[in-house]
Amino acid sequence: MNVTEEIKRRRTFAIIAHPDAGKTTLTEKLLLFGGAIQSAGAVKSNKIKKSTTSDFMEIEKQRGISVSTSVMAFDYKNYKVNILDTPGHEDFAEDTYRTLSAVDSVIMVIDCVKGVEPQTRKLLEVCRMRQTPVIVFINKMDREGQNPFDLLDEIEKELKIKVRPLTWPIGIGKSFKGVYNLQLKSLNLFMGDSKTTVEELYEIGDISSQEVEKNIGENFAEQLRADVDLIDGVYDNLNRQSYLEGKISPVFFGSAVNNFGIKELLDCFVEIAPPPIERDTDKGIIKPEDTKFSGFVFKIHANLDPKHRDRIAFLRICSGIFERNKYYHHVRDNKQLRFSNPTAFMAQQKSVIDEAFPGDVIGLYDAGNFKIGDTLTEGASFQFKGIPSFSPELFRYVTNLDPMKTKQLQKGLEQLTDEGVAQLFTKKIDGRKVIGTVGALQFEVIQHRLKAEYNASASFDSINLYKALWISCNDRNKLNAFMLDRSNHIAFDKEERPVFLAESAWLLQMAQEKFPDIQFHVKSEF
Ligand code: G4P
Repeated sequence: MNVTEEIKRRRTFAIIAHPDAGKTTLTEKLLLFGGAIQSAGAVKSNKIKKSTTSDFMEIEKQRGISVSTSVMAFDYKNYKVNILDTPGHEDFAEDTYRTLSAVDSVIMVIDCVKGVEPQTRKLLEVCRMRQTPVIVFINKMDREGQNPFDLLDEIEKELKIKVRPLTWPIGIGKSFKGVYNLQLKSLNLFMGDSKTTVEELYEIGDISSQEVEKNIGENFAEQLRADVDLIDGVYDNLNRQSYLEGKISPVFFGSAVNNFGIKELLDCFVEIAPPPIERDTDKGIIKPEDTKFSGFVFKIHANLDPKHRDRIAFLRICSGIFERNKYYHHVRDNKQLRFSNPTAFMAQQKSVIDEAFPGDVIGLYDAGNFKIGDTLTEGASFQFKGIPSFSPELFRYVTNLDPMKTKQLQKGLEQLTDEGVAQLFTKKIDGRKVIGTVGALQFEVIQHRLKAEYNASASFDSINLYKALWISCNDRNKLNAFMLDRSNHIAFDKEERPVFLAESAWLLQMAQEKFPDIQFHVKSEF
């Protein structure tokens, strides 16, 4: 197979969902279809359940699980599917946002009982920002959920996307009979109870055929025909281009735990989802077909063994072919690096690979060279865009509790923030360090890992902060004047970019009104 064919057959995506909607279950069923795993229960949920065991144990467990499920690849038909896992806990949302920078499309799972939930909303905002194509899977149709038309309305209204159902449920909950495939015009009937996985496919050719009555009875047949009429009247036909531009989302209904409706989803996904897309850099567009290799690091994972400081950097290949033992250019450090054990992930299996193609994600053993967002090339000096830091939501001052271990603390904070666990800001006025995260759990993770891996102790003291926003202005003098006026509230991030620390929404508004030329950004990339 040549490179163009290898690129064309790749589908790199993530499943996103509010916790409990069924992401893990769906992932597992997809892997079963691909033959990548043999039995149910093989994929562990990466949810952190704050319950019986101590949180540290849970954090360690999370780290263990998320290494093994970071990327799960499998072959289906002639396609190579790469699923990138996203953390199950909302405190790790930033990890999820970054993972979304490395995919070409997403499948969004919605629980038919709960509808659109807070995390669904946040994640979809990120997809919209990048115009990522989204396929919707409405899950748990075996439970008494909402009316499917109401669900679609809710999705359109709350998530501000257009939808187009491609399958349609017949009944719901106890009376769930199966789905009608609106494209193939076939009935896929659900024969089981919640424990079994039986489905039968009936090609009925035409919705007016008596076969429909025969299979689902008169009442359901009548309802289905009325629904199909309404669907055709209300929803535009699916236009692939609009889907690829993130403007319209195909919708499937099913029950992941019962393995129902998944095949329709997967068959359509491999057909319409985009192969590796081109990507923007500070020096222009890079296409997957470009012959020279390039890629970027979107995730870094620390070694689980604290005695070994090496880490795994996850690199998304954007162009060319990656080869083992070849020297590549680390753009930020202007260094040549080569990798003797690059790893690929096939479901749960890790293996050393000799080459990898655009769309693939590989694991690189790293002794501390990489930061999130780093670009690796075959020699050229450019930097991929679109891997920003997001404005954190929670803040703490860092206080060193062991002056003998100052260096260790500094190193620990540097490295943990390089991994993207949290963001580090240094206040302009007094040099105090402020840690910013999107979730409270991160503080526990950092404190625990500082002690366990760096032998450093720090306390995290409360700080009254509402938001940290990156600031910019076309006129350097005006920016300097602002920074002087608000010097108590200015800090620098790790790249020395200035950040405004707003103590309240009101103070932020005041600053914006008094300095209309200053721009305030919620992302580090603008
Ligand atoms: P997540 O990764 O999105 O957080 O969700 P996960 O797959 O772990 O699923 C959350 C719960 O929903 C699980 O139950 C799972 O079995 C159940 N579930 C998933 N798909 C369906 C479905 O189609 N129908 C029904 N009725 N339930 C579904 P749990 O009790 O939390 O875990 P478990 O003990 O069943 O593993």
